[in-house]
Amino acid sequence: MKIAVIGTGYVGLVTGTCFAETGNMVTCVDINAEKVQKLSSGEITIYEPGLEKLFLRNQKEGRLFFTQSLAEAVAQAHVIFLALPTPPDEDGSADLRYILGVASDLGTLIKPGDYKVIVDKSTVPVGTASSVRDTINAASTQNIEKWFDVVSNPEFLREGVAVDDFMKPDRVVIGTTASEAIRIMNELYAPFVRQGNPIIFMDEYSAELTKYAANAFLAVKISFMNEIARLCELFGADVDMVRRGIGSDERIGRRFLFPGIGYGGSCFPKDVKALSKSSKDAGYDFRILDAVMTVNEKQKLHLVQKMKAFYDNDLNGKHFALWGLAFKPNTDDVREAPAFEIINALLEAGATVSAFDPEAMHNSKEILGERIRFAESQYEALEAADALIIATEWNEFRTPDFEKISQLLKEKVIFDGRNLFDLQKIRQMDFHYESVGRRTITQPGIES
Ligand SMILES: NC(=O)c1ccc[n+]([C@@H]2O[C@H](COP(=O)([O-])OP(=O)(O)OC[C@H]3O[C@@H](n4cnc5c(N)ncnc54)[C@H](O)[C@@H]3O)[C@@H](O)[C@H]2O)c1
Repeated sequence: MKIAVIGTGYVGLVTGTCFAETGNMVTCVDINAEKVQKLSSGEITIYEPGLEKLFLRNQKEGRLFFTQSLAEAVAQAHVIFLALPTPPDEDGSADLRYILGVASDLGTLIKPGDYKVIVDKSTVPVGTASSVRDTINAASTQNIEKWFDVVSNPEFLREGVAVDDFMKPDRVVIGTTASEAIRIMNELYAPFVRQGNPIIFMDEYSAELTKYAANAFLAVKISFMNEIARLCELFGADVDMVRRGIGSDERIGRRFLFPGIGYGGSCFPKDVKALSKSSKDAGYDFRILDAVMTVNEKQKLHLVQKMKAFYDNDLNGKHFALWGLAFKPNTDDVREAPAFEIINALLEAGATVSAFDPEAMHNSKEILGERIRFAESQYEALEAADALIIATEWNEFRTPDFEKISQLLKEKVIFDGRNLFDLQKIRQMDFHYESVGRRTITQPGIES
Protein backbone atom coordinates (compact mmCIF):
# COMPACT_ATOMS: atom_id res chain seq x y z
CA MET A 1 0.00 0.00 0.00
CA LYS A 2 1.12 3.59 -0.51
CA ILE A 3 1.23 5.53 2.73
CA ALA A 4 1.96 9.11 3.75
CA VAL A 5 2.95 9.95 7.32
CA ILE A 6 2.61 13.63 8.19
CA GLY A 7 4.92 14.62 11.05
CA THR A 8 8.18 12.72 11.39
CA GLY A 9 8.89 12.87 15.13
CA TYR A 10 8.96 10.05 17.67
CA VAL A 11 5.64 8.58 16.52
CA GLY A 12 5.80 9.47 12.81
CA LEU A 13 9.29 8.08 12.18
CA VAL A 14 8.55 4.82 13.98
CA THR A 15 5.17 4.49 12.24
CA GLY A 16 6.62 5.21 8.80
CA THR A 17 9.59 2.90 9.25
CA CYS A 18 7.52 -0.01 10.60
CA PHE A 19 4.95 0.25 7.80
CA ALA A 20 7.82 0.27 5.28
CA GLU A 21 9.23 -2.81 7.04
CA THR A 22 6.05 -4.73 6.19
CA GLY A 23 6.40 -3.88 2.49
CA ASN A 24 4.44 -0.65 2.11
CA MET A 25 5.75 2.36 0.20
CA VAL A 26 5.98 5.14 2.76
CA THR A 27 6.59 8.86 2.32
CA CYS A 28 7.15 10.82 5.53
CA VAL A 29 6.48 14.55 5.53
CA ASP A 30 7.84 17.15 7.93
CA ILE A 31 7.94 20.95 7.89
CA ASN A 32 11.34 20.92 9.54
CA ALA A 33 13.73 21.25 6.58
CA GLU A 34 16.81 20.20 8.55
CA LYS A 35 15.06 17.04 9.78
CA VAL A 36 13.97 16.09 6.25
CA GLN A 37 17.44 16.74 4.90
CA LYS A 38 19.09 14.57 7.56
CA LEU A 39 16.59 11.73 7.20
CA SER A 40 16.83 11.81 3.42
CA SER A 41 20.58 11.44 3.62
CA GLY A 42 20.32 8.45 5.95
CA GLU A 43 20.88 10.21 9.27
CA ILE A 44 18.44 9.24 11.99
CA THR A 45 17.08 12.15 14.07
CA ILE A 46 15.98 10.42 17.28
CA TYR A 47 17.44 7.76 19.52
CA GLU A 48 15.13 4.76 19.62
CA PRO A 49 16.57 1.25 20.11
CA GLY A 50 16.33 -0.88 16.96
CA LEU A 51 14.99 1.91 14.77
CA GLU A 52 18.13 2.90 12.90
CA LYS A 53 18.66 -0.57 11.41
CA LEU A 54 15.10 -0.72 10.04
CA PHE A 55 15.24 2.89 8.88
CA LEU A 56 18.45 2.33 6.89
CA ARG A 57 17.29 -0.97 5.39
CA ASN A 58 13.94 0.31 4.20
CA GLN A 59 15.46 3.48 2.84
CA LYS A 60 18.07 1.47 0.96
CA GLU A 61 15.43 -0.87 -0.43
CA GLY A 62 13.39 2.07 -1.72
CA ARG A 63 10.34 1.84 0.52
CA LEU A 64 10.93 4.86 2.79
CA PHE A 65 11.12 8.46 1.59
CA PHE A 66 11.20 11.88 3.21
CA THR A 67 9.92 15.17 1.89
CA GLN A 68 8.75 18.60 2.93
CA SER A 69 6.02 18.53 0.31
CA LEU A 70 2.62 17.51 1.61
CA ALA A 71 1.21 17.65 -1.92
CA GLU A 72 3.82 15.20 -3.25
CA ALA A 73 3.18 12.67 -0.47
CA VAL A 74 -0.61 12.96 -0.56
CA ALA A 75 -0.86 12.64 -4.35
CA GLN A 76 0.36 9.02 -4.25
CA ALA A 77 -0.99 7.87 -0.90
CA HIS A 78 -4.01 5.68 -0.19
CA VAL A 79 -3.65 6.13 3.54
CA ILE A 80 -2.48 9.34 5.22
CA PHE A 81 -1.37 9.18 8.85
CA LEU A 82 -1.33 12.34 10.97
CA ALA A 83 1.48 12.04 13.55
CA LEU A 84 1.51 15.71 14.42
CA PRO A 85 2.14 17.41 17.77
CA THR A 86 -0.80 18.11 20.07
CA PRO A 87 0.91 20.18 22.77
CA PRO A 88 -0.97 21.63 25.72
CA ASP A 89 -2.58 25.00 25.20
CA GLU A 90 -2.41 27.62 27.95
CA ASP A 91 -5.57 26.26 29.58
CA GLY A 92 -4.34 22.64 29.45
CA SER A 93 -6.47 21.58 26.47
CA ALA A 94 -4.80 19.91 23.48
CA ASP A 95 -3.73 22.47 20.89
CA LEU A 96 -5.18 21.22 17.60
CA ARG A 97 -3.60 23.88 15.44
CA TYR A 98 -1.18 21.45 13.73
CA ILE A 99 -3.84 18.81 13.08
CA LEU A 100 -6.46 21.18 11.75
CA GLY A 101 -3.87 23.15 9.77
CA VAL A 102 -2.85 20.01 7.89
CA ALA A 103 -6.52 18.97 7.57
CA SER A 104 -7.20 22.25 5.84
CA ASP A 105 -4.31 21.64 3.42
CA LEU A 106 -5.63 18.13 2.78
CA GLY A 107 -8.94 19.66 1.76
CA THR A 108 -7.20 21.31 -1.17
CA LEU A 109 -5.33 18.12 -2.14
CA ILE A 110 -8.02 15.42 -2.01
CA LYS A 111 -9.75 15.07 -5.39
CA PRO A 112 -13.01 13.34 -6.35
CA GLY A 113 -12.40 9.84 -7.72
CA ASP A 114 -9.27 9.21 -5.61
CA TYR A 115 -10.43 7.73 -2.27
CA LYS A 116 -8.13 8.23 0.74
CA VAL A 117 -8.19 7.26 4.40
CA ILE A 118 -7.00 9.97 6.79
CA VAL A 119 -5.79 8.35 10.00
CA ASP A 120 -5.33 10.32 13.16
CA LYS A 121 -2.46 8.83 15.15
CA SER A 122 -1.86 11.88 17.31
CA THR A 123 -3.45 11.92 20.76
CA VAL A 124 -6.48 14.15 20.33
CA PRO A 125 -9.64 15.00 22.28
CA VAL A 126 -12.94 13.33 21.57
CA GLY A 127 -14.56 14.94 18.55
CA THR A 128 -11.32 15.67 16.68
CA ALA A 129 -11.94 13.15 13.87
CA SER A 130 -15.20 14.93 13.27
CA SER A 131 -13.46 18.35 13.26
CA VAL A 132 -10.84 17.02 10.84
CA ARG A 133 -13.61 15.79 8.53
CA ASP A 134 -15.39 19.16 8.66
CA THR A 135 -12.14 21.07 8.10
CA ILE A 136 -11.21 18.99 5.04
CA ASN A 137 -14.66 19.44 3.51
CA ALA A 138 -14.67 23.17 4.25
CA ALA A 139 -11.27 23.69 2.60
CA SER A 140 -12.24 21.97 -0.63
CA THR A 141 -13.84 23.75 -3.53
CA GLN A 142 -15.29 20.44 -4.75
CA ASN A 143 -17.69 17.92 -3.29
CA ILE A 144 -15.19 15.41 -1.87
CA GLU A 145 -17.24 14.14 1.07
CA LYS A 146 -17.47 10.54 -0.18
CA TRP A 147 -13.87 10.42 -1.38
CA PHE A 148 -12.27 10.21 2.06
CA ASP A 149 -12.83 8.81 5.55
CA VAL A 150 -11.28 9.98 8.79
CA VAL A 151 -10.23 7.25 11.21
CA SER A 152 -8.99 7.50 14.78
CA ASN A 153 -6.06 5.14 15.38
CA PRO A 154 -4.42 6.19 18.65
CA GLU A 155 -0.82 5.15 19.16
CA PHE A 156 0.21 3.28 22.32
CA LEU A 157 3.93 2.85 21.65
CA ARG A 158 6.35 3.60 24.46
CA GLU A 159 9.51 5.54 23.71
CA GLY A 160 12.50 3.31 24.42
CA VAL A 161 10.70 0.19 23.13
CA ALA A 162 8.74 1.89 20.35
CA VAL A 163 9.79 -0.44 17.54
CA ASP A 164 8.81 -3.56 19.48
CA ASP A 165 5.57 -1.95 20.58
CA PHE A 166 4.72 -1.01 17.01
CA MET A 167 5.73 -4.31 15.45
CA LYS A 168 3.98 -6.38 18.14
CA PRO A 169 1.29 -4.19 19.66
CA ASP A 170 -0.79 -5.42 22.62
CA ARG A 171 -3.75 -4.20 20.60
CA VAL A 172 -4.56 -1.91 17.71
CA VAL A 173 -7.49 0.44 18.25
CA ILE A 174 -9.32 1.67 15.17
CA GLY A 175 -12.14 4.14 15.48
CA THR A 176 -14.37 4.18 12.41
CA THR A 177 -17.62 2.73 11.14
CA ALA A 178 -16.80 3.27 7.43
CA SER A 179 -16.59 -0.14 5.73
CA GLU A 180 -13.88 0.71 3.17
CA ALA A 181 -11.71 2.26 5.88
CA ILE A 182 -12.19 -0.84 8.06
CA ARG A 183 -11.10 -3.07 5.17
CA ILE A 184 -7.97 -1.00 4.47
CA MET A 185 -6.96 -0.67 8.13
CA ASN A 186 -7.41 -4.41 8.64
CA GLU A 187 -5.14 -5.14 5.69
CA LEU A 188 -2.53 -2.64 6.82
CA TYR A 189 -2.30 -3.94 10.38
CA ALA A 190 -2.66 -7.67 9.62
CA PRO A 191 1.15 -8.31 9.61
CA PHE A 192 1.45 -6.77 13.09
CA VAL A 193 -1.18 -8.92 14.82
CA ARG A 194 -0.27 -12.37 13.53
CA GLN A 195 0.21 -13.67 17.07
CA GLY A 196 -3.44 -13.01 17.78
CA ASN A 197 -3.37 -9.69 19.54
CA PRO A 198 -6.59 -7.93 18.65
CA ILE A 199 -7.47 -5.15 16.29
CA ILE A 200 -10.32 -3.55 18.17
CA PHE A 201 -12.75 -1.68 15.95
CA MET A 202 -14.99 0.89 17.58
CA ASP A 203 -16.58 4.25 16.89
CA GLU A 204 -14.22 7.22 16.61
CA TYR A 205 -15.29 8.84 19.90
CA SER A 206 -14.51 5.70 21.88
CA ALA A 207 -11.14 5.31 20.12
CA GLU A 208 -10.17 8.88 20.92
CA LEU A 209 -11.16 8.46 24.55
CA THR A 210 -9.40 5.08 24.84
CA LYS A 211 -6.00 6.71 24.38
CA TYR A 212 -6.59 9.30 27.09
CA ALA A 213 -8.10 6.68 29.40
CA ALA A 214 -5.00 4.47 28.98
CA ASN A 215 -2.50 7.23 29.73
CA ALA A 216 -4.56 8.67 32.57
CA PHE A 217 -4.90 5.24 34.17
CA LEU A 218 -1.14 4.67 34.02
CA ALA A 219 -0.52 8.11 35.50
CA VAL A 220 -2.94 7.24 38.33
CA LYS A 221 -0.92 4.08 38.99
CA ILE A 222 2.32 6.06 39.19
CA SER A 223 0.96 8.77 41.47
CA PHE A 224 -0.73 6.15 43.66
CA MET A 225 2.56 4.32 44.15
CA ASN A 226 4.36 7.58 44.84
CA GLU A 227 1.87 8.30 47.61
CA ILE A 228 2.28 4.78 49.00
CA ALA A 229 6.04 5.43 48.96
CA ARG A 230 5.50 8.59 51.01
CA LEU A 231 3.54 6.56 53.55
CA CYS A 232 6.29 3.95 53.63
CA GLU A 233 8.77 6.65 54.55
CA LEU A 234 6.51 7.87 57.37
CA PHE A 235 5.71 4.41 58.70
CA GLY A 236 9.16 2.84 58.26
CA ALA A 237 7.80 0.36 55.69
CA ASP A 238 9.61 -0.63 52.49
CA VAL A 239 7.85 0.23 49.23
CA ASP A 240 9.65 -2.60 47.40
CA MET A 241 7.99 -5.08 49.72
CA VAL A 242 4.59 -3.41 49.44
CA ARG A 243 4.96 -3.29 45.65
CA ARG A 244 5.70 -7.00 45.49
CA GLY A 245 2.95 -7.72 47.96
CA ILE A 246 0.26 -6.00 45.90
CA GLY A 247 1.69 -6.71 42.44
CA SER A 248 1.28 -10.46 42.83
CA ASP A 249 -2.48 -9.91 42.93
CA GLU A 250 -3.52 -10.49 39.32
CA ARG A 251 -6.15 -7.79 39.56
CA ILE A 252 -3.38 -5.25 40.24
CA GLY A 253 -0.48 -6.66 38.22
CA ARG A 254 3.29 -6.27 38.67
CA ARG A 255 3.97 -3.58 36.10
CA PHE A 256 3.97 0.16 36.57
CA LEU A 257 4.18 -0.02 40.36
CA PHE A 258 7.60 1.54 40.78
CA PRO A 259 7.73 4.78 42.76
CA GLY A 260 10.15 7.49 41.72
CA ILE A 261 10.42 11.19 41.07
CA GLY A 262 7.17 11.61 39.17
CA TYR A 263 6.11 10.95 35.60
CA GLY A 264 7.36 13.14 32.76
CA GLY A 265 7.73 12.88 29.00
CA SER A 266 5.73 14.25 26.14
CA CYS A 267 2.56 12.25 26.84
CA PHE A 268 1.42 11.66 30.43
CA PRO A 269 1.66 15.28 31.65
CA LYS A 270 -0.13 16.76 28.65
CA ASP A 271 -2.66 13.96 28.26
CA VAL A 272 -3.76 13.98 31.90
CA LYS A 273 -4.09 17.76 31.71
CA ALA A 274 -6.06 17.59 28.45
CA LEU A 275 -8.45 14.91 29.73
CA SER A 276 -9.07 16.89 32.89
CA LYS A 277 -9.78 20.01 30.82
CA SER A 278 -12.05 18.31 28.31
CA SER A 279 -13.94 16.62 31.18
CA LYS A 280 -14.51 20.01 32.79
CA ASP A 281 -15.63 21.45 29.45
CA ALA A 282 -18.15 18.63 29.22
CA GLY A 283 -19.42 19.50 32.71
CA TYR A 284 -17.69 16.71 34.60
CA ASP A 285 -15.15 17.27 37.35
CA PHE A 286 -12.71 14.34 36.99
CA ARG A 287 -11.26 14.69 40.47
CA ILE A 288 -8.80 11.81 40.44
CA LEU A 289 -6.93 13.47 37.58
CA ASP A 290 -6.49 16.72 39.45
CA ALA A 291 -5.10 14.80 42.43
CA VAL A 292 -2.77 12.83 40.14
CA MET A 293 -1.32 16.05 38.73
CA THR A 294 -0.86 17.63 42.17
CA VAL A 295 0.84 14.51 43.54
CA ASN A 296 3.10 14.34 40.51
CA GLU A 297 4.22 17.96 40.78
CA LYS A 298 5.11 17.45 44.45
CA GLN A 299 6.88 14.18 43.77
CA LYS A 300 9.25 15.76 41.26
CA LEU A 301 10.76 17.81 44.09
CA HIS A 302 10.65 15.14 46.79
CA LEU A 303 14.31 14.28 46.32
CA VAL A 304 15.32 17.94 46.56
CA GLN A 305 13.40 18.19 49.83
CA LYS A 306 15.33 15.21 51.14
CA MET A 307 18.55 16.88 50.08
CA LYS A 308 17.60 20.10 51.80
CA ALA A 309 16.81 18.21 55.00
CA PHE A 310 20.17 16.44 54.81
CA TYR A 311 22.12 19.67 54.26
CA ASP A 312 20.27 21.72 56.94
CA ASN A 313 18.34 23.61 54.29
CA ASP A 314 21.52 25.07 52.82
CA LEU A 315 22.46 23.91 49.33
CA ASN A 316 24.30 27.12 48.50
CA GLY A 317 27.78 26.36 47.14
CA LYS A 318 27.20 22.61 47.01
CA HIS A 319 28.08 20.74 43.84
CA PHE A 320 26.10 17.71 42.69
CA ALA A 321 26.59 14.99 40.11
CA LEU A 322 23.38 13.99 38.35
CA TRP A 323 22.97 10.76 36.39
CA GLY A 324 20.14 10.71 33.87
CA LEU A 325 18.44 13.56 32.05
CA ALA A 326 16.01 11.74 29.73
CA PHE A 327 12.50 11.38 31.13
CA LYS A 328 13.01 7.63 31.12
CA PRO A 329 15.74 5.21 30.00
CA ASN A 330 16.43 4.25 26.37
CA THR A 331 15.32 7.54 24.88
CA ASP A 332 16.90 10.92 24.15
CA ASP A 333 13.57 12.63 24.86
CA VAL A 334 13.80 15.20 27.66
CA ARG A 335 10.34 16.73 27.34
CA GLU A 336 8.97 17.35 30.87
CA ALA A 337 11.79 15.25 32.32
CA PRO A 338 11.75 15.33 36.16
CA ALA A 339 15.58 15.72 36.11
CA PHE A 340 15.11 19.27 34.83
CA GLU A 341 12.85 20.22 37.75
CA ILE A 342 15.48 18.89 40.14
CA ILE A 343 18.25 20.79 38.35
CA ASN A 344 16.26 24.03 38.37
CA ALA A 345 15.52 23.70 42.10
CA LEU A 346 19.18 23.01 42.89
CA LEU A 347 20.43 25.95 40.83
CA GLU A 348 17.84 28.21 42.47
CA ALA A 349 19.15 27.12 45.86
CA GLY A 350 22.69 28.16 44.86
CA ALA A 351 24.08 24.72 44.03
CA THR A 352 25.92 23.68 40.85
CA VAL A 353 25.41 20.51 38.80
CA SER A 354 27.46 18.20 36.56
CA ALA A 355 25.20 15.89 34.60
CA PHE A 356 25.56 12.85 32.40
CA ASP A 357 23.07 10.95 30.27
CA PRO A 358 23.95 8.22 27.75
CA GLU A 359 21.70 9.61 24.97
CA ALA A 360 20.01 12.84 26.04
CA MET A 361 23.00 15.20 26.31
CA HIS A 362 22.35 16.93 22.99
CA ASN A 363 18.67 17.66 23.69
CA SER A 364 19.50 18.73 27.25
CA LYS A 365 22.19 21.16 26.10
CA GLU A 366 19.63 22.85 23.87
CA ILE A 367 17.48 23.55 26.91
CA LEU A 368 20.01 24.12 29.69
CA GLY A 369 22.85 25.74 27.73
CA GLU A 370 25.62 26.72 30.10
CA ARG A 371 23.57 26.53 33.27
CA ILE A 372 25.10 23.18 34.22
CA ARG A 373 28.25 21.30 33.26
CA PHE A 374 27.81 18.36 30.90
CA ALA A 375 30.20 15.57 31.86
CA GLU A 376 31.98 13.24 29.46
CA SER A 377 31.00 10.13 31.39
CA GLN A 378 28.98 9.06 34.39
CA TYR A 379 32.17 8.91 36.46
CA GLU A 380 33.58 12.22 35.28
CA ALA A 381 30.36 13.84 36.52
CA LEU A 382 31.26 12.74 40.06
CA GLU A 383 34.52 14.66 40.33
CA ALA A 384 34.49 16.99 43.35
CA ALA A 385 30.74 16.53 43.80
CA ASP A 386 29.22 16.56 47.27
CA ALA A 387 26.73 13.84 46.33
CA LEU A 388 25.35 11.79 43.46
CA ILE A 389 21.72 12.18 42.34
CA ILE A 390 20.09 9.51 40.17
CA ALA A 391 17.23 10.81 38.04
CA THR A 392 16.83 8.20 35.25
CA GLU A 393 17.11 4.43 35.58
CA TRP A 394 19.43 3.71 32.66
CA ASN A 395 20.75 0.14 32.83
CA GLU A 396 24.37 1.28 32.97
CA PHE A 397 23.66 3.04 36.26
CA ARG A 398 22.34 -0.12 37.90
CA THR A 399 25.61 -1.83 38.75
CA PRO A 400 28.19 0.94 38.81
CA ASP A 401 31.72 0.79 40.16
CA PHE A 402 31.01 1.83 43.76
CA GLU A 403 34.72 1.91 44.52
CA LYS A 404 35.15 4.58 41.87
CA ILE A 405 32.09 6.48 43.12
CA SER A 406 33.57 6.52 46.64
CA GLN A 407 36.90 7.83 45.36
CA LEU A 408 35.46 10.56 43.17
CA LEU A 409 32.74 11.99 45.41
CA LYS A 410 33.75 14.37 48.19
CA GLU A 411 31.47 12.46 50.54
CA LYS A 412 29.82 9.07 50.06
CA VAL A 413 26.28 10.37 49.64
CA ILE A 414 23.68 9.20 47.08
CA PHE A 415 20.17 10.51 46.50
CA ASP A 416 18.47 7.92 44.30
CA GLY A 417 15.17 8.91 42.70
CA ARG A 418 14.80 5.51 41.00
CA ASN A 419 15.57 3.00 43.77
CA LEU A 420 18.36 1.40 41.75
CA PHE A 421 20.39 -0.11 44.55
CA ASP A 422 19.90 -2.87 47.03
CA LEU A 423 19.74 -1.44 50.56
CA GLN A 424 21.72 -4.29 52.08
CA LYS A 425 24.57 -3.85 49.60
CA ILE A 426 24.66 -0.09 50.07
CA ARG A 427 24.72 -0.51 53.84
CA GLN A 428 27.81 -2.72 53.60
CA MET A 429 29.61 -0.11 51.51
CA ASP A 430 29.13 2.69 54.01
CA PHE A 431 27.23 5.14 51.84
CA HIS A 432 24.67 7.62 53.05
CA TYR A 433 21.81 6.59 50.75
CA GLU A 434 18.36 8.05 50.36
CA SER A 435 15.84 6.58 47.93
CA VAL A 436 12.06 6.69 47.52
CA GLY A 437 9.78 4.87 49.95
CA ARG A 438 12.62 2.93 51.56
CA ARG A 439 14.70 3.36 54.70
CA THR A 440 17.52 5.89 54.60
CA ILE A 441 20.91 4.28 55.03
CA THR A 442 22.94 6.56 57.24
CA GLN A 443 26.67 6.40 56.95
CA PRO A 444 28.43 6.57 60.28
CA GLY A 445 30.16 9.92 60.58
CA ILE A 446 27.76 11.85 58.40
CA GLU A 447 24.81 13.24 60.29
CA SER A 448 21.43 13.14 58.57
N1 LIG B 1 6.06 10.31 21.73
C1 LIG B 1 5.33 9.30 22.14
O1 LIG B 1 5.80 8.39 22.84
C2 LIG B 1 3.88 9.20 21.76
C3 LIG B 1 3.21 7.99 21.96
C4 LIG B 1 1.87 7.92 21.58
C5 LIG B 1 1.24 9.02 21.05
N2 LIG B 1 1.91 10.18 20.89
C6 LIG B 1 1.21 11.32 20.27
O2 LIG B 1 1.61 11.40 18.92
C7 LIG B 1 1.67 12.78 18.49
C8 LIG B 1 3.05 13.10 17.98
O3 LIG B 1 3.97 12.95 19.05
P1 LIG B 1 5.55 12.94 18.81
O4 LIG B 1 6.17 12.64 20.14
O5 LIG B 1 5.88 12.10 17.65
O6 LIG B 1 5.79 14.46 18.44
P2 LIG B 1 7.13 15.11 17.85
O7 LIG B 1 7.13 16.50 18.34
O8 LIG B 1 8.29 14.21 18.14
O9 LIG B 1 6.91 15.08 16.26
C9 LIG B 1 6.01 15.87 15.58
C10 LIG B 1 6.60 16.22 14.22
O10 LIG B 1 5.62 16.91 13.44
C11 LIG B 1 6.28 17.90 12.67
N3 LIG B 1 5.31 18.89 12.20
C12 LIG B 1 4.72 19.92 12.85
N4 LIG B 1 3.87 20.56 12.05
C13 LIG B 1 3.89 19.93 10.85
C14 LIG B 1 3.23 20.13 9.62
N5 LIG B 1 2.36 21.10 9.46
N6 LIG B 1 3.52 19.29 8.61
C15 LIG B 1 4.43 18.30 8.75
N7 LIG B 1 5.08 18.06 9.89
C16 LIG B 1 4.82 18.86 10.93
C17 LIG B 1 7.33 18.43 13.62
O11 LIG B 1 8.37 19.11 12.92
C18 LIG B 1 7.81 17.14 14.28
O12 LIG B 1 8.88 16.56 13.57
C19 LIG B 1 1.24 13.59 19.71
O13 LIG B 1 -0.15 13.81 19.65
C20 LIG B 1 1.55 12.66 20.87
O14 LIG B 1 0.74 12.92 21.99
C21 LIG B 1 3.21 10.29 21.22
